[in-house]
Amino acid sequence: MKTIITQSIDEAAALLDEGKLVAIPTETVYGLAGKFGIHEVHNEIYKVKGRPADNPLIVHIGDVSWVKELTNQTTPFLEPLMQHFFPGPLTLILKKASHISEYFCAGLDTIAIRMPEHPIARAILKKVNIPLVAPSANLSGKPSPTSSMDVYEDLNGKIPLIVEGGRCQIGIESTVVSLIEDKPRVLRPGIITQKEIEHVLGFSVECGGKGRCISPGMKYRHYAPKTPIQMFTDLEDVQECSLQSWILSYEGELPGSIPFSSYSLYQKFREADRLNISKIYIYLSSNLLNQTALMNRIQKAANQA
Ligand code: TXA
Ligand code: MG
Repeated sequence: MKTIITQSIDEAAALLDEGKLVAIPTETVYGLAGKFGIHEVHNEIYKVKGRPADNPLIVHIGDVSWVKELTNQTTPFLEPLMQHFFPGPLTLILKKASHISEYFCAGLDTIAIRMPEHPIARAILKKVNIPLVAPSANLSGKPSPTSSMDVYEDLNGKIPLIVEGGRCQIGIESTVVSLIEDKPRVLRPGIITQKEIEHVLGFSVECGGKGRCISPGMKYRHYAPKTPIQMFTDLEDVQECSLQSWILSYEGELPGSIPFSSYSLYQKFREADRLNISKIYIYLSSNLLNQTALMNRIQKAANQA
């Protein structure tokens, strides 16, 4: 299959309508989109990504009014969170509507819903006028793609179309918040912080999985480049540092190091693989430790979470 990169929203919408997969830009990372609720489409997404069958997909909506088709759960937390953060980098987990087969929720009775803000994603959703499932458009286990080139690198020959949308403004995946318990729970930290969510709701929320793993994707190694990653606090711990290894620091706070932020973390990971870098050292400063979402991705990539 030949993979084409296009700027045409019409072309993307037409292929999606036919049940084909199209990679689309969102404000967080590129998504591998397909029509929600079609067996062949869901199966193809799992096959193309090499994604474990028990890891459910996020359903992307074009308007808040679409939510009532997907869930019949009533919760006082839904309205304020949607009002503040939709469209945007927030995914909400709710009980699925009873007419939706568990097949489309990886066997769960819950559904993940997000309304992206990126103008191209919104235009495509508006045009197809039905919800689209869209996991990150990378091969399972690799860092999420933040440019059309990243998607091409992973999925060339496997999907017909990638929509060009430039580099993703946020660069890491959405915050995932579950609303299925008495109290909201942050399952995946993101650029929308726990504090911001608490500010909107007016009370403290839970964080992380509770005993059993309620976000199946959390148990897999994620976001990782081939290049090994080591965090350090003291430069003396940076052994065998050579031209072939990189030292990264958050916003370049360590003189002479390569700066990174949420926007560029995955880009750096992918560049390191392309250049055959032997090791990535990441300076663990107090500023970086305060970046919950970034630390989450780095620890997973370093295989320490
Ligand atoms: O920013 C994003 O969220 C991007 C863009 C493309 O929208 N999408 C994304 O999708 O990161 P994905 O599939 O790579 O990550 C979705 C995460 C996984 O950890 C998955 O397990 C979790 O959301 N998830 C999906 N449905 C769930 C559910 N019903 N209950 C708990 N966790 C769920
Ligand atoms: Mg992903």
